[in-house]
Amino acid sequence: MSHPASTEQAARLLIHRLTAAVADDFAADVRRGLTAQRKFLLPKYFYDGLGSRLFDAICLVPEYYLTRAEADIFARHAAEIVEKARDGARRLTLFELGSGSAAKTRRIIDVLLAAQTRLRYVPVDISTAALEESASALLGDYEGLGVTAYAADYDTALPRLRENFEEGARALVLFLGSNVGNFDRAEARDFLRRVRAALRPGDRLLLGADLKKDAATLEAAYDDPLGVTAAFNLNLLARINRELGADFSLRDFRHVALYDEREGRVEMHLESTCAQTVRVGALDLEINFRAGERIHTENSYKYSLDELSALAAETGFAREQTWLDPAGRFSSNLFVAEGKR
Ligand code: AVJ
Repeated sequence: MSHPASTEQAARLLIHRLTAAVADDFAADVRRGLTAQRKFLLPKYFYDGLGSRLFDAICLVPEYYLTRAEADIFARHAAEIVEKARDGARRLTLFELGSGSAAKTRRIIDVLLAAQTRLRYVPVDISTAALEESASALLGDYEGLGVTAYAADYDTALPRLRENFEEGARALVLFLGSNVGNFDRAEARDFLRRVRAALRPGDRLLLGADLKKDAATLEAAYDDPLGVTAAFNLNLLARINRELGADFSLRDFRHVALYDEREGRVEMHLESTCAQTVRVGALDLEINFRAGERIHTENSYKYSLDELSALAAETGFAREQTWLDPAGRFSSNLFVAEGKR
């Protein structure tokens, strides 16, 4: 690409690559998870190149309503959301945690660039590939945009967000798509406290949270008949094969999704369909599975509006306003950072 536009675009892009530590953790976390009494793998490892694309495909599956519901909320209310978040300030600096392909973010960027000529966008994502792709697409489409990206996990990136604060601009942090659902209730509190610590009083967090609802709707969303979610889940084993030289036979595991009403969470598992032994070369490890034994791969916690108010109050925020999609399945919550301004 020798087109002059690409040079000009490159000048508006900075990517901090802080994922080296994450790569080392993969081997250690796989060992820890597969040798545990109750086997588990961490959901952050779903998102390699293929996994990120499978997740994008999930968002197109009819049963997975979350992404469309949130996009619908933004289509209707982006201007109002931005207006509230700006709260009289001249400008906003836009941050996003777990940005992925950043498709929904465009609605917010459209509104912001209608009101201010330049915008700094600071996405954080575990997938360097997703960041590179989304950043170059955005830079091509928005002239007034500057992107400072962090290829990192949240713990690494959060303390560095303030490097991007701008004079006279308030911060708006997006944490969309019910990504908060991957944390258990205590982890969610801990995480939001760390987000709050990265912000100034009056800065805002826009938190997308899926709402509690009937088990049938939730289980269909996480076990679609096309099998895209099953492929997304099984790709975790394929990734261990690719990166750690394991010999998982994907045909001997099946995708399971269950809503635990008491915990208010959808659980995903990979169930061994037979007694088998799997070798993980890079870990010099052999793992035995009983028929029917499961690897727990993800929790997706669901919230009520009361729980979201409590979550805000417990973490140094207040739930200022909430928008729902027309079917009332999903919530976009504007949290304002409390404290002396
Ligand atoms: C990206 C964590 C919000 O839990 O709904 C989608 C991931 N897992 N289908 C979710 C996911 C299975 C998704 N999050």
